[in-house]
Amino acid sequence: MPAVSASAPGKVILFGEHAVVYGQPAIAAPVTGVHVKVIVQPNPLQPSGSIEIESPAVNFHATRSELPEQHPLHILFQQIEQTLQISRLPAMKIRINSTLPAGAGMGSSAAVSVAIIRAITRFVGLPVDNEGVNRIAYEVEKAFHGTPSGIDNTVITYQMPIYYVRNQQPQLIHVKEPITLIIANTGEAPSTAEMVAGVRQRWQQYPQRYEKIFRQIGCLVESARQILEQGSWQQLPPLMEENHQLLQQMGVSSPALDELVKSALQCGAYGAKLTGGGGGGNIIALVQPEQADQIARQLLRQGALHTWLTTLRPIQEDK
Ligand code: PMV
Repeated sequence: MPAVSASAPGKVILFGEHAVVYGQPAIAAPVTGVHVKVIVQPNPLQPSGSIEIESPAVNFHATRSELPEQHPLHILFQQIEQTLQISRLPAMKIRINSTLPAGAGMGSSAAVSVAIIRAITRFVGLPVDNEGVNRIAYEVEKAFHGTPSGIDNTVITYQMPIYYVRNQQPQLIHVKEPITLIIANTGEAPSTAEMVAGVRQRWQQYPQRYEKIFRQIGCLVESARQILEQGSWQQLPPLMEENHQLLQQMGVSSPALDELVKSALQCGAYGAKLTGGGGGGNIIALVQPEQADQIARQLLRQGALHTWLTTLRPIQEDK
């Protein structure tokens, strides 16, 4: 069996984080400038079922047998075997290379899962379709994050902007015009699982207040979808502002995120909001392409630890 590789992009949530866990829609897009690449090679000297995994970027090296049963990679290998209906995968070595920052809300866990699933299933000659890849990746996300909505694994599997409602087939969004975004990181690395658990606790304490916020977010996501598909990007900033305020009310923003949103707007971004789990982590800022580099540099000067640029592009129809 020859070596096989597969890669998966990062992701960013445009609208609807947190409320999506409670059945409201959300919109996410792939970030193709960063990716996880997985290479699978045969390991003929080892017995079948033996898997060696190394990820130099995070200094991780392990064999399958060393992993505890609840380890996401253990669950991943089991799920692949179940899906392919084979009792043991052949012996292999897996190398994970990533330009995707871990813990920065760009979906690194889902990207690792998706790339491994694609690489292994191709390696054994039994490739799985998007739906199958997504189903396995979701099981693994549960092991990573507790009660994820499934949006990360879905957008990373389909590699297209999506409108997503939990437990429903994703709907692909075809943007009408290019949308240029800066993603800027505060440097903190909060745990999404803890942020999601915090919202759950407050929702249980104040159900009416939280459900109203979730519904308001759901409504603005519907408007955002229409604008992305049919309108003009100039209509998005008020929705970004409203979404950020509702996330603040939910208690998932942080002083650093609020500062970065403010700085982005002062530097000339048209709209900005936190993205993902919050508590720190990333914001997105909607900018004009010609100003993107300059605004990104200014954000770095004003405290952002890192910035990435990503563009959602209309699909070119064949003439
Ligand atoms: O922190 P991130 O970017 O992985 O995003 C989490 C998104 C949430 O809506 C907060 C949780 C979820 O599972 O959808």
